[in-house]
Amino acid sequence: MFFASDNTGPVHPKIMQALVAANDGYDMPYGVDGPMERVRDQVRETFEAPEAEVFLVATGTAANVLSLATLTQPWQTVFCAPQAHINEDECNGPEFYMGGAKLTLVDAPDAKMTPDALRTRIEGEETRGVHGPQRGPVSITNVTERGTVYSVSEISALSEVAKSYDLPVHLDGARFANALATTNASPDEMTWKAGVDVLSFGGTKNGCMGVEAVVLFDPKLAWEFELRRKRGAHLFSKHRFLSAQMAAYLEDGLWLQLARQANAANARLCEGLRDTGGVRFLHEPDANMSFAGWTRAGHQRLHEAGAKYYIWEGQLDGSDPQEELTARMVCDWSATDENVDQFVELVRG
Ligand SMILES: Cc1ncc(COP(=O)(O)O)c(C=O)c1O
Repeated sequence: MFFASDNTGPVHPKIMQALVAANDGYDMPYGVDGPMERVRDQVRETFEAPEAEVFLVATGTAANVLSLATLTQPWQTVFCAPQAHINEDECNGPEFYMGGAKLTLVDAPDAKMTPDALRTRIEGEETRGVHGPQRGPVSITNVTERGTVYSVSEISALSEVAKSYDLPVHLDGARFANALATTNASPDEMTWKAGVDVLSFGGTKNGCMGVEAVVLFDPKLAWEFELRRKRGAHLFSKHRFLSAQMAAYLEDGLWLQLARQANAANARLCEGLRDTGGVRFLHEPDANMSFAGWTRAGHQRLHEAGAKYYIWEGQLDGSDPQEELTARMVCDWSATDENVDQFVELVRG
C-alpha cells in the first residue's frame, strides 16, 4: 500500500528493458547518442511540433529551474501559484538558477490560478520603475500540486493574459501525461496551441527511472538552454541512459497508457473512500493525486498495517481517535486494485 508518491513505484519493465539494451556496447556521450535522435523525432511527432527542440535531464527540478532560467532575466519575477512546486519544493532552486530573479505568487484556489488573479498580480509589478522587479514568465503546473487539473481552455486563458503583456509561459508537466489522460486533450492542444512556450515533460513519476524532457517550442531558445544545462551541471555524460528511457516511454503510447492506469487507480481509491461515508476531500481529485481527511483511528489502522502516505495536516499521535487528519495520496501506474481496496477497507475500519 504505497501511496506516498508516484515516484515510490517500480520502473516499467519496458523502460527497464530499454536501459538494459542501451547498456550493450558503446554510444557517443553528452546527448549525441543514437536514442536521442529517436527521442527528438518522437517528441516532435507527439507534439506535432516539427521545430521543437528537446533536451533531457534527470530530475523535474532541473527541468523547471533550467527552463525558467532560460526564460527569465535576473531582474524579473515569475508569476506562479503559491502551491507551485517551484515555490514550495525546490529549495529556492529557481531563484538560484535564474541568478536572483524572484517569484510573485498569484491567488490560486485549489492550486489553479485564475486569469483575473494573474492579471492583478502582473499589473502589480513594474510599478516602481528601475527600483522594482520587472515582469517575467508565467509558470503553470498541470496536474497541479493539489491534484486538480487545468483544462486546455483554462491554460489558454492564462496564456492570453501572459501574452497580452508579452510574457512567456512555462508549463511544469511533471504529471503532464496524467493531465492529458484526464482531459483527453492532445499534447499539442495542451501546450503550444494553448500558448505554452516551454514544457517540463515528466517521465520519472510515470514509470521511468529518472528522466524528464524539456520541450522548447521556440527553437531559438535551444542554445541558451544547452549552455545553461551544461553550466548548471545537468548535462549527463552517459546520456544514452536518459534517452533510452524516454524513447521507450514514448513508444506506442506507453506514457499515456501508464498515466491512465494511475488515474484509474486514483479514481477507484477516491470512490472507495467516498463510499465509506467518513471521508472529506479537500480538492477535486482530478488525476492521480488526492487530499482527504478522516479519523485519526483510521490513519492509525493504516499505519499499523504498513500503509505509506503522507499525513498532510495533523499528528498521528494524539488522544482523540475521532479527530480528522488529512492525507495526501498519490497513485502510480503500478497501483493494484487489491492494494487500493485494502487501503479503503482499513479506512472503513
Ligand atoms: C509538480 C512537480 N514539479 C516538479 C517536481 C520535481 O521533480 P523532482 O523531484 O524529480 O525534482 C515534482 C516532484 O514532486 C512535482 O510534483
